Amino acid sequence: MDTIQIKDKQFAVSIKEEDILKEVARVADEINRDLAGKNPLFLSVLNGSFMFTADLMKRITIPCEISFVKLASYQGVASTGAVKEVIGINEELAGRTIVIVEDIVDTGLTMQRLLETLGTRNPKEIHIATLLLKPDKLKVDLNIEYVAMRIPNDFIVGYGLDYDGLGRNYKDIYTVK
Ligand code: IMP
Repeated sequence: MDTIQIKDKQFAVSIKEEDILKEVARVADEINRDLAGKNPLFLSVLNGSFMFTADLMKRITIPCEISFVKLASYQGVASTGAVKEVIGINEELAGRTIVIVEDIVDTGLTMQRLLETLGTRNPKEIHIATLLLKPDKLKVDLNIEYVAMRIPNDFIVGYGLDYDGLGRNYKDIYTVK
């Protein structure tokens, strides 16, 4: 399938599964090398990172643990806008080496929010692994050590990423036409 239609938008295939998996394997090798002996706790950010997480974790060979978190929008009582709350952290993070596993860092505001929240639980160190990075849109200063692929500003779907809830199931990545 070279093109797909989701609601009002047409998308064309832009990164094939085999090319994604090569970069995921490279990131896994880097993590295996850098974090050996640290028993890292991988925190996968749902929903978008489920496919990346599965393919990444199959290639992680050092002792490690994995858990899943979600960002929920809620209206704070005194807040004017929607605030993202991190839900699902059941593990003790104090003293741990954490690796956040994200699908895409766009403006970086979501990642910044995650780092703030996780930081209050006194982990030893927090590393970031993202499948995709849109460098031109990054608004905040983040130290992203593990990036599978850098992409232009265009909107994409597939390999876990969605357009209005749809398109997460495709094995390749598609760019809006
Ligand atoms: P940020 O807070 O601007 O970095 O946005 C991060 C979130 O926006 C990601 O976790 C995605 O859920 C979503 N997102 C950003 N760009 C795209 C895209 O091109 N396709 C699908 N979702 C995206």
